[in-house]
Amino acid sequence: MKEIKINTDSRNYPVLVGTNILSENNLKEFSNKEILLVIDSKIEESVKKEVQITLSNISLKYSELTIEASEENKSSKTLSIIHDLLIEKSYSRDCILFALGGGIICDMTGFAAATFLRGVDFVLIPSTLLSQVDASVGGKTAINHPKGKNMIGAFHQPSKVITDTKLLKSLEKVQIREGLAEIIKHALIKDEAFFKWLEENIEDLIEGNDVKLLEAIYKSIEIKAEVVSQDETEQGIRKWLNFGHTFGHAIEVYGNYKRFSHGEAVALGMIMATNLSQKILNLGKKEIDKIKQLIYSILSEELLKSEFQPNDLVRLMSADKKKKGDSLNFILLSSIGEAQILSDIQESDIIESIKLT
Ligand code: GLY
Repeated sequence: MKEIKINTDSRNYPVLVGTNILSENNLKEFSNKEILLVIDSKIEESVKKEVQITLSNISLKYSELTIEASEENKSSKTLSIIHDLLIEKSYSRDCILFALGGGIICDMTGFAAATFLRGVDFVLIPSTLLSQVDASVGGKTAINHPKGKNMIGAFHQPSKVITDTKLLKSLEKVQIREGLAEIIKHALIKDEAFFKWLEENIEDLIEGNDVKLLEAIYKSIEIKAEVVSQDETEQGIRKWLNFGHTFGHAIEVYGNYKRFSHGEAVALGMIMATNLSQKILNLGKKEIDKIKQLIYSILSEELLKSEFQPNDLVRLMSADKKKKGDSLNFILLSSIGEAQILSDIQESDIIESIKLT
Protein backbone atom coordinates (compact mmCIF):
# COMPACT_ATOMS: atom_id res chain seq x y z
CA MET A 1 0.00 0.00 0.00
CA LYS A 2 1.17 3.53 -0.80
CA GLU A 3 0.06 6.84 0.60
CA ILE A 4 -0.28 10.15 -1.24
CA LYS A 5 -0.58 13.29 0.87
CA ILE A 6 -2.89 16.05 -0.23
CA ASN A 7 -2.02 19.36 1.42
CA THR A 8 -4.62 22.02 0.71
CA ASP A 9 -5.17 25.33 2.50
CA SER A 10 -8.27 23.97 4.22
CA ARG A 11 -7.08 20.45 5.13
CA ASN A 12 -4.30 17.90 4.76
CA TYR A 13 -5.34 14.30 4.20
CA PRO A 14 -4.00 10.99 2.91
CA VAL A 15 -5.10 8.97 -0.09
CA LEU A 16 -4.27 5.32 0.49
CA VAL A 17 -3.77 3.34 -2.71
CA GLY A 18 -3.47 -0.43 -2.74
CA THR A 19 -5.19 -3.78 -3.09
CA ASN A 20 -7.19 -5.31 -0.24
CA ILE A 21 -6.79 -2.30 2.02
CA LEU A 22 -10.30 -1.95 3.44
CA SER A 23 -9.19 -3.48 6.73
CA GLU A 24 -9.96 -2.22 10.23
CA ASN A 25 -6.35 -1.16 10.52
CA ASN A 26 -6.82 1.56 7.91
CA LEU A 27 -10.01 2.76 9.57
CA LYS A 28 -9.05 2.63 13.21
CA GLU A 29 -8.98 6.42 13.67
CA PHE A 30 -12.75 6.34 13.15
CA SER A 31 -13.39 4.04 16.14
CA ASN A 32 -16.12 5.16 18.51
CA LYS A 33 -17.50 7.66 16.03
CA GLU A 34 -21.03 8.14 14.75
CA ILE A 35 -20.91 6.78 11.21
CA LEU A 36 -23.30 6.93 8.27
CA LEU A 37 -22.34 4.79 5.29
CA VAL A 38 -23.79 5.86 1.94
CA ILE A 39 -23.63 2.92 -0.46
CA ASP A 40 -23.88 2.84 -4.24
CA SER A 41 -26.53 0.24 -5.14
CA LYS A 42 -24.13 -1.26 -7.72
CA ILE A 43 -21.45 -2.22 -5.18
CA GLU A 44 -20.55 -5.87 -5.22
CA GLU A 45 -22.07 -7.80 -2.28
CA SER A 46 -18.81 -9.09 -0.77
CA VAL A 47 -17.20 -5.62 -0.74
CA LYS A 48 -20.34 -4.08 0.73
CA LYS A 49 -20.44 -6.70 3.51
CA GLU A 50 -16.77 -6.17 4.34
CA VAL A 51 -17.19 -2.40 4.72
CA GLN A 52 -20.52 -2.73 6.56
CA ILE A 53 -19.07 -5.18 9.08
CA THR A 54 -15.89 -3.19 9.69
CA LEU A 55 -17.65 0.15 10.13
CA SER A 56 -20.48 -1.18 12.27
CA ASN A 57 -17.93 -2.96 14.51
CA ILE A 58 -15.76 0.07 15.15
CA SER A 59 -18.47 2.75 15.38
CA LEU A 60 -20.34 4.18 18.32
CA LYS A 61 -23.45 4.54 16.22
CA TYR A 62 -23.94 3.15 12.70
CA SER A 63 -26.53 3.62 9.96
CA GLU A 64 -26.46 3.08 6.24
CA LEU A 65 -28.29 4.25 3.18
CA THR A 66 -28.23 2.67 -0.28
CA ILE A 67 -28.68 4.97 -3.25
CA GLU A 68 -29.09 4.19 -6.93
CA ALA A 69 -26.38 6.25 -8.57
CA SER A 70 -27.75 8.27 -11.48
CA GLU A 71 -27.43 11.90 -12.56
CA GLU A 72 -31.17 12.22 -11.84
CA ASN A 73 -30.68 11.05 -8.27
CA LYS A 74 -27.74 13.41 -7.70
CA SER A 75 -30.39 15.85 -6.55
CA SER A 76 -31.63 18.01 -3.69
CA LYS A 77 -34.23 15.28 -3.07
CA THR A 78 -31.57 12.62 -2.38
CA LEU A 79 -29.53 15.13 -0.39
CA SER A 80 -32.58 15.66 1.84
CA ILE A 81 -32.90 11.90 2.34
CA ILE A 82 -29.33 11.82 3.70
CA HIS A 83 -29.89 14.89 5.89
CA ASP A 84 -33.27 13.57 7.14
CA LEU A 85 -31.64 10.36 8.30
CA LEU A 86 -28.85 12.22 10.10
CA ILE A 87 -31.36 14.49 11.84
CA GLU A 88 -33.85 11.71 12.71
CA LYS A 89 -31.06 9.67 14.27
CA SER A 90 -29.63 12.69 16.12
CA TYR A 91 -26.17 12.59 14.54
CA SER A 92 -23.86 15.19 16.08
CA ARG A 93 -21.20 17.46 14.55
CA ASP A 94 -18.67 14.82 15.48
CA CYS A 95 -20.12 12.29 13.01
CA ILE A 96 -18.45 10.97 9.86
CA LEU A 97 -20.09 10.18 6.55
CA PHE A 98 -18.57 7.40 4.46
CA ALA A 99 -19.18 7.06 0.72
CA LEU A 100 -18.76 3.67 -0.89
CA GLY A 101 -19.35 4.09 -4.61
CA GLY A 102 -18.63 5.90 -7.85
CA GLY A 103 -18.33 9.62 -8.54
CA ILE A 104 -22.02 10.42 -8.04
CA ILE A 105 -22.08 8.88 -4.55
CA CYS A 106 -18.70 10.46 -3.62
CA ASP A 107 -19.76 13.96 -4.78
CA MET A 108 -23.18 13.77 -3.13
CA THR A 109 -21.97 12.34 0.18
CA GLY A 110 -19.26 15.01 0.26
CA PHE A 111 -21.84 17.75 -0.27
CA ALA A 112 -24.13 16.25 2.40
CA ALA A 113 -21.13 16.36 4.78
CA ALA A 114 -20.28 19.94 3.72
CA THR A 115 -23.77 21.16 4.54
CA PHE A 116 -24.88 19.10 7.58
CA LEU A 117 -24.45 21.20 10.74
CA ARG A 118 -22.25 23.59 8.70
CA GLY A 119 -19.79 20.86 7.84
CA VAL A 120 -18.86 17.43 9.19
CA ASP A 121 -16.11 15.01 8.18
CA PHE A 122 -16.33 12.44 5.42
CA VAL A 123 -14.29 9.55 4.04
CA LEU A 124 -14.35 8.29 0.46
CA ILE A 125 -14.03 4.71 -0.73
CA PRO A 126 -14.28 5.18 -4.52
CA SER A 127 -15.38 2.10 -6.42
CA THR A 128 -14.82 2.91 -10.11
CA LEU A 129 -11.60 3.72 -11.93
CA LEU A 130 -13.03 7.12 -12.86
CA SER A 131 -13.87 8.01 -9.25
CA GLN A 132 -10.56 6.64 -7.98
CA VAL A 133 -8.52 8.95 -10.23
CA ASP A 134 -10.88 11.91 -10.30
CA ALA A 135 -13.98 12.39 -8.09
CA SER A 136 -12.35 11.19 -4.87
CA VAL A 137 -9.48 13.68 -4.99
CA GLY A 138 -9.78 17.43 -4.72
CA GLY A 139 -12.72 18.31 -2.49
CA LYS A 140 -15.20 19.50 -5.10
CA THR A 141 -18.57 18.25 -3.84
CA ALA A 142 -21.90 18.85 -5.53
CA ILE A 143 -25.39 17.89 -6.55
CA ASN A 144 -27.14 18.70 -9.83
CA HIS A 145 -29.82 21.33 -10.42
CA PRO A 146 -32.48 20.79 -13.13
CA LYS A 147 -30.72 23.60 -15.06
CA GLY A 148 -27.27 22.02 -14.94
CA LYS A 149 -24.79 19.46 -13.63
CA ASN A 150 -22.97 20.15 -10.34
CA MET A 151 -24.59 23.59 -10.05
CA ILE A 152 -25.01 23.35 -6.25
CA GLY A 153 -21.82 22.52 -4.42
CA ALA A 154 -18.97 23.38 -2.11
CA PHE A 155 -15.26 22.82 -1.69
CA HIS A 156 -15.01 20.40 1.23
CA GLN A 157 -12.02 18.10 1.51
CA PRO A 158 -12.43 14.53 2.85
CA SER A 159 -10.57 13.30 5.95
CA LYS A 160 -9.24 10.28 4.11
CA VAL A 161 -9.58 8.46 0.79
CA ILE A 162 -9.17 4.70 0.54
CA THR A 163 -8.56 3.62 -3.04
CA ASP A 164 -8.72 -0.15 -3.24
CA THR A 165 -8.15 -1.71 -6.67
CA LYS A 166 -9.98 -4.82 -5.48
CA LEU A 167 -13.16 -2.84 -6.16
CA LEU A 168 -12.29 -2.60 -9.85
CA LYS A 169 -12.65 -6.36 -10.35
CA SER A 170 -16.37 -6.13 -10.94
CA LEU A 171 -16.15 -3.25 -13.43
CA GLU A 172 -17.04 -3.65 -17.07
CA LYS A 173 -14.39 -2.90 -19.71
CA VAL A 174 -16.21 0.25 -20.75
CA GLN A 175 -15.87 1.59 -17.19
CA ILE A 176 -12.13 0.92 -17.25
CA ARG A 177 -11.84 2.84 -20.54
CA GLU A 178 -13.77 5.75 -19.02
CA GLY A 179 -11.30 6.00 -16.14
CA LEU A 180 -8.39 5.73 -18.57
CA ALA A 181 -9.59 8.92 -20.27
CA GLU A 182 -8.96 10.94 -17.08
CA ILE A 183 -5.66 9.12 -16.49
CA ILE A 184 -4.49 10.10 -20.00
CA LYS A 185 -5.62 13.66 -19.27
CA HIS A 186 -3.40 13.80 -16.18
CA ALA A 187 -0.39 12.66 -18.22
CA LEU A 188 -1.11 15.13 -21.03
CA ILE A 189 -1.28 18.20 -18.82
CA LYS A 190 1.71 17.47 -16.62
CA ASP A 191 3.86 14.44 -17.22
CA GLU A 192 5.42 13.41 -20.53
CA ALA A 193 7.19 10.39 -19.00
CA PHE A 194 3.86 9.08 -17.68
CA PHE A 195 2.36 9.60 -21.16
CA LYS A 196 5.12 7.42 -22.63
CA TRP A 197 4.46 4.78 -19.97
CA LEU A 198 0.76 4.84 -20.87
CA GLU A 199 1.57 4.39 -24.56
CA GLU A 200 3.60 1.28 -23.70
CA ASN A 201 1.05 -0.20 -21.31
CA ILE A 202 -2.33 0.82 -22.66
CA GLU A 203 -3.35 -2.66 -23.85
CA ASP A 204 -2.66 -4.20 -20.43
CA LEU A 205 -4.55 -1.37 -18.75
CA ILE A 206 -7.59 -1.85 -21.00
CA GLU A 207 -7.48 -5.57 -20.17
CA GLY A 208 -7.59 -4.67 -16.45
CA ASN A 209 -4.07 -5.81 -15.50
CA ASP A 210 -4.00 -5.33 -11.68
CA VAL A 211 -0.38 -4.33 -11.31
CA LYS A 212 -0.40 -1.86 -14.18
CA LEU A 213 -3.71 -0.34 -13.09
CA LEU A 214 -2.36 0.18 -9.59
CA GLU A 215 0.64 2.00 -11.01
CA ALA A 216 -1.50 4.17 -13.31
CA ILE A 217 -3.91 5.06 -10.50
CA TYR A 218 -1.08 5.97 -8.16
CA LYS A 219 0.68 8.17 -10.71
CA SER A 220 -2.56 9.80 -11.77
CA ILE A 221 -3.59 10.66 -8.20
CA GLU A 222 -0.10 11.98 -7.56
CA ILE A 223 -0.51 14.44 -10.46
CA LYS A 224 -3.97 15.55 -9.36
CA ALA A 225 -2.76 15.85 -5.75
CA GLU A 226 0.06 18.15 -6.78
CA VAL A 227 -2.30 20.37 -8.75
CA VAL A 228 -5.06 20.67 -6.13
CA SER A 229 -2.53 21.13 -3.33
CA GLN A 230 -1.27 24.24 -5.16
CA ASP A 231 -4.69 25.62 -6.09
CA GLU A 232 -7.53 24.22 -3.99
CA THR A 233 -10.28 26.54 -5.26
CA GLU A 234 -9.37 26.62 -8.96
CA GLN A 235 -8.02 30.14 -9.32
CA GLY A 236 -5.29 29.10 -11.76
CA ILE A 237 -3.36 25.88 -12.33
CA ARG A 238 -6.26 23.66 -11.21
CA LYS A 239 -8.08 24.74 -14.38
CA TRP A 240 -5.61 22.50 -16.26
CA LEU A 241 -7.61 19.54 -14.99
CA ASN A 242 -10.37 20.75 -17.32
CA PHE A 243 -8.37 19.72 -20.40
CA GLY A 244 -10.95 18.25 -22.82
CA HIS A 245 -13.78 19.21 -20.48
CA THR A 246 -15.01 22.40 -22.19
CA PHE A 247 -15.73 20.34 -25.30
CA GLY A 248 -16.56 17.30 -23.15
CA HIS A 249 -19.32 18.91 -21.10
CA ALA A 250 -20.96 20.21 -24.28
CA ILE A 251 -20.71 16.69 -25.78
CA GLU A 252 -22.45 15.23 -22.72
CA VAL A 253 -25.34 17.71 -23.08
CA TYR A 254 -25.41 17.15 -26.89
CA GLY A 255 -26.08 13.48 -26.17
CA ASN A 256 -28.63 14.29 -23.42
CA TYR A 257 -26.31 12.63 -20.87
CA LYS A 258 -27.33 9.28 -22.41
CA ARG A 259 -25.34 8.86 -25.59
CA PHE A 260 -21.92 9.58 -24.07
CA SER A 261 -20.67 8.80 -20.57
CA HIS A 262 -18.51 11.42 -18.85
CA GLY A 263 -15.28 9.58 -19.63
CA GLU A 264 -16.22 9.07 -23.28
CA ALA A 265 -17.18 12.73 -23.67
CA VAL A 266 -13.88 13.82 -22.10
CA ALA A 267 -11.92 11.50 -24.41
CA LEU A 268 -13.70 12.94 -27.48
CA GLY A 269 -13.26 16.45 -26.03
CA MET A 270 -9.51 15.85 -25.64
CA ILE A 271 -9.25 15.02 -29.36
CA MET A 272 -10.93 18.36 -30.18
CA ALA A 273 -8.76 20.24 -27.65
CA THR A 274 -5.71 18.66 -29.29
CA ASN A 275 -6.89 19.97 -32.69
CA LEU A 276 -7.33 23.42 -31.15
CA SER A 277 -3.86 23.18 -29.59
CA GLN A 278 -2.40 22.64 -33.06
CA LYS A 279 -4.17 25.75 -34.35
CA ILE A 280 -3.48 28.06 -31.39
CA LEU A 281 -0.22 26.80 -29.84
CA ASN A 282 1.38 25.06 -32.81
CA LEU A 283 1.39 21.70 -31.08
CA GLY A 284 3.59 19.53 -33.30
CA LYS A 285 2.23 16.96 -35.77
CA LYS A 286 4.20 14.06 -34.24
CA GLU A 287 2.84 14.79 -30.77
CA ILE A 288 -0.69 15.19 -32.11
CA ASP A 289 -0.48 11.77 -33.77
CA LYS A 290 0.72 10.16 -30.54
CA ILE A 291 -2.00 11.81 -28.45
CA LYS A 292 -4.75 10.81 -30.86
CA GLN A 293 -3.41 7.27 -31.17
CA LEU A 294 -3.55 6.80 -27.41
CA ILE A 295 -7.05 8.28 -27.11
CA TYR A 296 -8.33 6.27 -30.11
CA SER A 297 -7.12 3.09 -28.41
CA ILE A 298 -9.56 3.54 -25.49
CA LEU A 299 -12.57 4.38 -27.67
CA SER A 300 -14.86 2.12 -29.66
CA GLU A 301 -15.09 2.46 -33.43
CA GLU A 302 -18.71 3.48 -33.05
CA LEU A 303 -17.79 6.38 -30.77
CA LEU A 304 -15.11 7.52 -33.17
CA LYS A 305 -17.75 7.74 -35.89
CA SER A 306 -19.81 10.21 -33.81
CA GLU A 307 -20.74 13.35 -35.65
CA PHE A 308 -21.45 16.75 -34.16
CA GLN A 309 -23.02 19.89 -35.54
CA PRO A 310 -20.15 22.29 -34.67
CA ASN A 311 -22.43 25.33 -34.24
CA ASP A 312 -24.63 23.42 -31.79
CA LEU A 313 -21.63 22.31 -29.75
CA VAL A 314 -20.26 25.88 -29.60
CA ARG A 315 -23.69 27.14 -28.49
CA LEU A 316 -23.81 24.51 -25.72
CA MET A 317 -20.28 25.43 -24.58
CA SER A 318 -21.15 29.11 -24.33
CA ALA A 319 -24.47 28.42 -22.57
CA ASP A 320 -22.71 26.24 -19.97
CA LYS A 321 -20.12 28.92 -19.21
CA LYS A 322 -22.76 31.69 -19.05
CA LYS A 323 -24.83 29.67 -16.58
CA LYS A 324 -21.80 29.26 -14.36
CA GLY A 325 -20.72 32.91 -14.74
CA ASP A 326 -17.39 31.89 -16.32
CA SER A 327 -15.76 33.03 -19.53
CA LEU A 328 -15.10 30.49 -22.27
CA ASN A 329 -11.62 29.17 -21.41
CA PHE A 330 -9.76 26.35 -23.09
CA ILE A 331 -6.93 24.33 -21.67
CA LEU A 332 -4.55 23.67 -24.53
CA LEU A 333 -1.24 21.88 -24.93
CA SER A 334 1.97 23.43 -26.19
CA SER A 335 3.53 19.97 -25.94
CA ILE A 336 2.80 16.67 -24.19
CA GLY A 337 2.99 17.44 -20.46
CA GLU A 338 2.72 21.24 -20.88
CA ALA A 339 -0.71 22.87 -20.53
CA GLN A 340 -1.86 26.47 -20.80
CA ILE A 341 -5.13 28.32 -20.13
CA LEU A 342 -6.37 30.31 -23.11
CA SER A 343 -9.37 32.59 -23.54
CA ASP A 344 -10.59 34.86 -26.36
CA ILE A 345 -10.32 32.11 -28.96
CA GLN A 346 -12.08 32.85 -32.23
CA GLU A 347 -15.25 30.90 -32.85
CA SER A 348 -14.03 29.87 -36.31
CA ASP A 349 -10.98 28.16 -34.72
CA ILE A 350 -13.20 26.32 -32.22
CA ILE A 351 -15.52 25.20 -35.01
CA GLU A 352 -12.61 23.91 -37.10
CA SER A 353 -11.41 21.83 -34.14
CA ILE A 354 -14.70 19.97 -33.77
CA LYS A 355 -13.73 16.78 -35.56
CA LEU A 356 -12.40 13.42 -34.42
CA THR A 357 -9.67 13.00 -37.03
N1 GLY B 1 -14.15 15.87 -6.26
C1 GLY B 1 -13.48 16.03 -7.49
C2 GLY B 1 -12.57 17.18 -7.53
O1 GLY B 1 -12.39 17.86 -6.56
O2 GLY B 1 -11.98 17.46 -8.56
